[in-house]
Amino acid sequence: VTPVIVAIDGPSGTGKSSTSKAVAARLGLGYLDTGAQYRAMTWWMLANGVDVADAAAVAAACAKPSIVSGTDPLAPTITVDGTDVAGPIRGREVTSAVSAVSAVPEVRARITELQRSLASETAAAAGGIVVEGRDIGTTVLPAADVKIFLTASPEARAARRSAELSGADAAGLAATREALLKRDAADSGRTASPLAKAADATEVDTTELTLEQVIECVVTLVEAAR
Ligand code: C5P
Repeated sequence: VTPVIVAIDGPSGTGKSSTSKAVAARLGLGYLDTGAQYRAMTWWMLANGVDVADAAAVAAACAKPSIVSGTDPLAPTITVDGTDVAGPIRGREVTSAVSAVSAVPEVRARITELQRSLASETAAAAGGIVVEGRDIGTTVLPAADVKIFLTASPEARAARRSAELSGADAAGLAATREALLKRDAADSGRTASPLAKAADATEVDTTELTLEQVIECVVTLVEAAR
Protein backbone atom coordinates (compact mmCIF):
# COMPACT_ATOMS: atom_id res chain seq x y z
CA VAL A 1 0.00 0.00 0.00
CA THR A 2 1.15 3.54 -0.65
CA PRO A 3 1.74 5.60 2.50
CA VAL A 4 -1.04 7.98 3.50
CA ILE A 5 -0.17 11.60 4.30
CA VAL A 6 -2.60 13.45 6.55
CA ALA A 7 -2.34 17.23 7.08
CA ILE A 8 -4.19 18.75 10.05
CA ASP A 9 -4.12 22.55 10.29
CA GLY A 10 -5.94 25.18 12.29
CA PRO A 11 -5.54 27.81 15.00
CA SER A 12 -4.65 27.02 18.62
CA GLY A 13 -7.14 25.41 20.96
CA THR A 14 -9.08 23.56 18.27
CA GLY A 15 -7.90 20.14 19.46
CA LYS A 16 -5.28 19.69 16.72
CA SER A 17 -2.67 17.93 18.85
CA SER A 18 -5.02 15.62 20.74
CA THR A 19 -6.82 14.71 17.51
CA SER A 20 -3.65 14.21 15.46
CA LYS A 21 -1.96 11.99 18.05
CA ALA A 22 -5.06 9.86 18.56
CA VAL A 23 -5.70 9.42 14.84
CA ALA A 24 -2.07 8.43 14.22
CA ALA A 25 -2.10 5.99 17.16
CA ARG A 26 -5.39 4.42 16.09
CA LEU A 27 -4.27 3.93 12.48
CA GLY A 28 -0.69 2.93 13.33
CA LEU A 29 0.81 5.97 11.57
CA GLY A 30 3.67 8.30 12.48
CA TYR A 31 3.00 11.74 13.95
CA LEU A 32 4.71 15.11 13.61
CA ASP A 33 3.94 18.21 15.69
CA THR A 34 5.33 21.07 13.59
CA GLY A 35 4.38 23.67 16.21
CA ALA A 36 6.82 21.94 18.58
CA GLN A 37 9.61 22.52 16.03
CA TYR A 38 8.89 26.28 15.88
CA ARG A 39 8.68 26.29 19.67
CA ALA A 40 12.05 24.47 19.89
CA MET A 41 13.65 27.04 17.55
CA THR A 42 12.19 29.82 19.71
CA TRP A 43 13.46 28.15 22.92
CA TRP A 44 16.98 28.04 21.42
CA MET A 45 16.82 31.74 20.41
CA LEU A 46 15.79 32.74 23.96
CA ALA A 47 18.39 30.45 25.56
CA ASN A 48 21.11 31.97 23.39
CA GLY A 49 20.18 35.60 23.94
CA VAL A 50 18.94 36.25 20.39
CA ASP A 51 16.47 39.17 20.32
CA VAL A 52 13.37 37.55 18.83
CA ALA A 53 12.05 40.96 17.73
CA ASP A 54 15.12 41.33 15.49
CA ALA A 55 14.20 39.32 12.37
CA ALA A 56 17.67 39.72 10.86
CA ALA A 57 19.31 38.31 14.00
CA VAL A 58 16.85 35.40 14.06
CA ALA A 59 17.46 34.73 10.37
CA ALA A 60 21.24 34.79 10.85
CA ALA A 61 21.11 32.32 13.77
CA CYS A 62 18.42 29.88 12.69
CA ALA A 63 20.70 27.40 10.93
CA LYS A 64 22.59 26.67 14.17
CA PRO A 65 20.35 24.51 16.38
CA SER A 66 19.83 20.86 15.57
CA ILE A 67 16.12 20.14 16.12
CA VAL A 68 15.08 16.49 16.25
CA SER A 69 11.48 15.25 16.52
CA GLY A 70 10.46 11.71 17.49
CA THR A 71 7.42 10.60 15.48
CA ASP A 72 5.79 7.99 17.74
CA PRO A 73 2.27 9.35 18.47
CA LEU A 74 2.23 7.58 21.86
CA ALA A 75 5.49 9.19 22.98
CA PRO A 76 6.40 12.20 20.82
CA THR A 77 9.78 13.75 21.67
CA ILE A 78 11.63 16.93 20.77
CA THR A 79 15.28 17.77 21.37
CA VAL A 80 17.51 20.73 20.57
CA ASP A 81 21.21 19.88 20.28
CA GLY A 82 20.45 16.71 22.24
CA THR A 83 18.58 18.46 25.10
CA ASP A 84 14.99 17.36 25.79
CA VAL A 85 12.91 20.57 25.54
CA ALA A 86 9.42 19.04 25.64
CA GLY A 87 8.63 20.81 28.93
CA PRO A 88 10.12 24.30 28.43
CA ILE A 89 8.69 24.77 24.93
CA ARG A 90 5.17 24.83 26.45
CA GLY A 91 6.02 27.65 28.85
CA ARG A 92 4.68 31.18 28.62
CA GLU A 93 8.00 32.72 27.45
CA VAL A 94 8.22 30.50 24.39
CA THR A 95 4.49 30.74 23.67
CA SER A 96 4.59 34.53 23.58
CA ALA A 97 7.74 34.68 21.40
CA VAL A 98 7.00 31.89 18.91
CA SER A 99 4.90 33.88 16.43
CA ALA A 100 7.72 36.41 15.90
CA VAL A 101 10.23 33.62 15.26
CA SER A 102 7.93 31.58 13.01
CA ALA A 103 7.22 34.65 10.83
CA VAL A 104 10.87 34.85 9.72
CA PRO A 105 11.16 33.36 6.20
CA GLU A 106 14.61 31.80 6.83
CA VAL A 107 13.22 29.99 9.88
CA ARG A 108 10.29 28.68 7.85
CA ALA A 109 12.51 27.56 4.97
CA ARG A 110 14.74 25.59 7.32
CA ILE A 111 11.95 24.00 9.33
CA THR A 112 9.85 23.24 6.24
CA GLU A 113 12.78 21.29 4.81
CA LEU A 114 13.07 19.30 8.06
CA GLN A 115 9.33 18.60 7.95
CA ARG A 116 9.32 17.39 4.35
CA SER A 117 12.20 14.97 4.82
CA LEU A 118 10.88 13.65 8.13
CA ALA A 119 7.39 13.24 6.64
CA SER A 120 8.61 11.22 3.68
CA GLU A 121 10.96 9.04 5.77
CA THR A 122 8.32 8.36 8.42
CA ALA A 123 5.52 7.80 5.94
CA ALA A 124 7.63 5.22 4.12
CA ALA A 125 8.59 3.44 7.35
CA ALA A 126 5.23 3.58 9.17
CA GLY A 127 2.78 3.41 6.25
CA GLY A 128 1.81 7.04 6.69
CA ILE A 129 2.03 10.10 8.88
CA VAL A 130 -0.24 12.67 10.48
CA VAL A 131 1.35 16.13 10.38
CA GLU A 132 -0.22 18.95 12.38
CA GLY A 133 0.45 22.67 12.04
CA ARG A 134 -0.68 25.88 10.38
CA ASP A 135 0.54 25.61 6.78
CA ILE A 136 0.85 21.86 6.18
CA GLY A 137 -1.97 21.55 3.64
CA THR A 138 -1.11 24.82 1.90
CA THR A 139 2.70 24.84 1.81
CA VAL A 140 4.59 22.01 3.50
CA LEU A 141 2.74 19.02 2.02
CA PRO A 142 0.35 20.39 -0.63
CA ALA A 143 -0.02 16.88 -2.11
CA ALA A 144 -1.28 15.37 1.20
CA ASP A 145 -3.93 12.66 0.71
CA VAL A 146 -6.19 14.05 3.43
CA LYS A 147 -6.35 17.70 4.52
CA ILE A 148 -8.31 18.76 7.57
CA PHE A 149 -8.80 22.31 8.84
CA LEU A 150 -10.01 22.40 12.44
CA THR A 151 -11.85 25.44 13.79
CA ALA A 152 -13.74 26.31 16.99
CA SER A 153 -15.24 29.43 18.54
CA PRO A 154 -12.81 31.71 20.40
CA GLU A 155 -14.65 30.89 23.65
CA ALA A 156 -14.24 27.13 23.19
CA ARG A 157 -10.57 27.50 22.24
CA ALA A 158 -9.77 29.72 25.22
CA ALA A 159 -11.56 27.33 27.60
CA ARG A 160 -9.61 24.33 26.26
CA ARG A 161 -6.28 26.11 26.37
CA SER A 162 -6.85 27.39 29.88
CA ALA A 163 -7.73 23.87 31.05
CA GLU A 164 -4.31 22.70 29.71
CA LEU A 165 -2.27 25.36 31.50
CA SER A 166 -1.25 24.96 35.10
CA GLY A 167 1.10 26.33 37.73
CA ALA A 168 3.09 29.37 36.67
CA ASP A 169 1.52 29.35 33.22
CA ALA A 170 -2.09 29.41 34.41
CA ALA A 171 -3.81 32.70 33.70
CA GLY A 172 -7.39 33.90 33.82
CA LEU A 173 -9.73 32.85 31.02
CA ALA A 174 -9.86 36.40 29.65
CA ALA A 175 -6.06 36.69 29.54
CA THR A 176 -5.74 33.27 27.91
CA ARG A 177 -8.35 34.21 25.30
CA GLU A 178 -6.56 37.46 24.53
CA ALA A 179 -3.11 35.81 24.19
CA LEU A 180 -4.53 33.07 21.97
CA LEU A 181 -6.35 35.50 19.65
CA LYS A 182 -3.23 37.66 19.43
CA ARG A 183 -1.09 34.66 18.41
CA ASP A 184 -3.66 33.52 15.82
CA ALA A 185 -3.87 37.02 14.35
CA ALA A 186 -0.06 37.11 14.05
CA ASP A 187 0.05 33.61 12.52
CA SER A 188 -2.76 34.42 10.05
CA GLY A 189 -1.47 37.90 9.17
CA ARG A 190 2.19 37.12 8.45
CA THR A 191 3.49 37.21 4.89
CA ALA A 192 5.47 33.95 4.98
CA SER A 193 3.13 30.96 4.70
CA PRO A 194 0.33 32.20 7.00
CA LEU A 195 -2.19 30.03 8.84
CA ALA A 196 -4.80 29.31 6.17
CA LYS A 197 -7.26 26.67 5.07
CA ALA A 198 -6.20 24.93 1.86
CA ALA A 199 -8.85 25.14 -0.88
CA ASP A 200 -9.17 21.34 -0.86
CA ALA A 201 -9.22 20.90 2.94
CA THR A 202 -12.25 19.59 4.84
CA GLU A 203 -13.21 22.08 7.53
CA VAL A 204 -14.37 20.58 10.83
CA ASP A 205 -15.86 22.96 13.41
CA THR A 206 -15.09 21.30 16.75
CA THR A 207 -16.99 23.78 18.98
CA GLU A 208 -19.88 21.42 19.69
CA LEU A 209 -18.01 18.14 19.22
CA THR A 210 -16.29 15.93 21.78
CA LEU A 211 -12.68 14.94 21.13
CA GLU A 212 -13.85 11.40 20.38
CA GLN A 213 -16.28 12.69 17.72
CA VAL A 214 -13.53 14.72 16.04
CA ILE A 215 -11.17 11.71 16.09
CA GLU A 216 -13.83 9.47 14.52
CA CYS A 217 -14.58 12.03 11.84
CA VAL A 218 -10.90 12.28 10.84
CA VAL A 219 -10.34 8.51 11.01
CA THR A 220 -13.30 8.05 8.65
CA LEU A 221 -11.87 10.56 6.17
CA VAL A 222 -8.44 8.88 6.26
CA GLU A 223 -9.88 5.40 5.81
CA ALA A 224 -11.92 6.63 2.84
CA ALA A 225 -8.75 8.02 1.23
CA ARG A 226 -6.67 4.88 1.71
O1 C5P B 1 0.68 24.40 17.45
P1 C5P B 1 1.42 25.29 18.39
O2 C5P B 1 0.52 26.22 19.16
O3 C5P B 1 2.36 24.56 19.29
O4 C5P B 1 2.33 26.21 17.45
C1 C5P B 1 3.17 27.19 17.99
C2 C5P B 1 3.44 28.29 16.96
O5 C5P B 1 4.28 27.78 15.92
C3 C5P B 1 2.24 28.88 16.24
O6 C5P B 1 1.61 29.90 17.00
C4 C5P B 1 2.88 29.42 14.97
O7 C5P B 1 3.47 30.68 15.18
C5 C5P B 1 3.99 28.43 14.70
N1 C5P B 1 3.65 27.43 13.68
C6 C5P B 1 3.79 27.78 12.36
N2 C5P B 1 3.58 26.85 11.38
C7 C5P B 1 3.24 25.60 11.69
C8 C5P B 1 3.07 25.22 13.04
C9 C5P B 1 3.26 26.17 14.03
O8 C5P B 1 4.09 28.93 12.07
N3 C5P B 1 3.09 24.70 10.71
